[in-house]
Amino acid sequence: MDSNLIHLKFKERFGGSAGSLYAAPGRINLIGEHTDYNDGFVFPGAVSQSIVAEVRPNGTRWVRAYAMDLQHYCEFDIDSEEGPESVCFRYIYGVVRLMMANGVQVEGFDTVYGGDVPMGAGMSSSAALESCFGTALNDLFHGNLEPMQLALIGQATEHQFVGVKCGIMDQFISMYGRAGSLVRLDCRSGEYAYFPWHPQEYQLVLVNSCVKHVLVGSPYNDRRNSCERVTQMLGIETLRDCSWEMLEGVKERLSPEDYRRARFVVGEVERVMRVSDALERDDYEAVGEQMYLTHEGLSRDYEVSCAEVDFLVAEARRLGVTGARIMGAGFGGCTLNLVRNDRYEAFVTEVQKTFAAQFGVECKIIPVVIGDGARKIK
Ligand code: GLA
Repeated sequence: MDSNLIHLKFKERFGGSAGSLYAAPGRINLIGEHTDYNDGFVFPGAVSQSIVAEVRPNGTRWVRAYAMDLQHYCEFDIDSEEGPESVCFRYIYGVVRLMMANGVQVEGFDTVYGGDVPMGAGMSSSAALESCFGTALNDLFHGNLEPMQLALIGQATEHQFVGVKCGIMDQFISMYGRAGSLVRLDCRSGEYAYFPWHPQEYQLVLVNSCVKHVLVGSPYNDRRNSCERVTQMLGIETLRDCSWEMLEGVKERLSPEDYRRARFVVGEVERVMRVSDALERDDYEAVGEQMYLTHEGLSRDYEVSCAEVDFLVAEARRLGVTGARIMGAGFGGCTLNLVRNDRYEAFVTEVQKTFAAQFGVECKIIPVVIGDGARKIK
């Protein structure tokens, strides 16, 4: 994101001296989808696309915020119990309120923000927004909160102020991302390890179906509820603890839908470990195989894909892509593709053609560069 544009807008709207600039990235996730709220493992990396905000305390109890991309302006009182109605500002309001609840002496501020993380594409634009403001307010109001606390504040914002019962993956990686590395996070213990991502002969590329997902509402939370019904029946804490035998043992008492959803999660927890092993051996063909299996599960069992995205994955397979799958929560958005360098050009050219021919709209190619986590720019 071009921070100069943000700054020009800031000057135009609020005048006076410059504020401080902060950025926080969106993410990819190599594998481990819908495992975070089941206490499993995930394998994300931060991307170079990010949300950038210029922020300057204004000496009042009011926030004055302008969202560049949406061309939307809003003011709210940080002491108000209700906060703004518009969802895009509720993310900021939630972060403010939860930081106050965590003892940070937040005051009013002026801000202009925007970014190049596509919205509703499965790249976590909302987590980027939360992490960006968490980082900014922690710095400007001397919060001394740890990055993990800021990630938890972002997650709690989704739960309490937006209504999406998300896991911790997106906010975690937006805070902890490191250029050139993916991170394997154990969502139960919070332990994590950086895995340098340096395949010589392959690259990652996203293809955005441009079918926008909306998580606010029920489909995401429904999946989570299914997982909880299964763990309740088994008397265990999370699906991380569910073996195949345990699941088969209660199959008859579960709805077919809950059973299929749990089957996906139990398989996905295993696939993340297989991918970790494959990466230790630099075996990217094995990584790709697991990606296709994940897609099959997400589409057939977890039912979070759609015709456009299934088409993109089928095309990837036809064009000799090593691995491809829907990424993020699902319901549209991007596929993540692991492609051999010698197939790359043919793949991106051809998939754009066939997608347009099939659906009459364009898909978008987004090259992946693994970047850094949330930070102050200036
Ligand atoms: C969304 C949520 C994450 C995670 C993914 C699916 O991105 O915010 O917590 O559950 O979906 O893996």
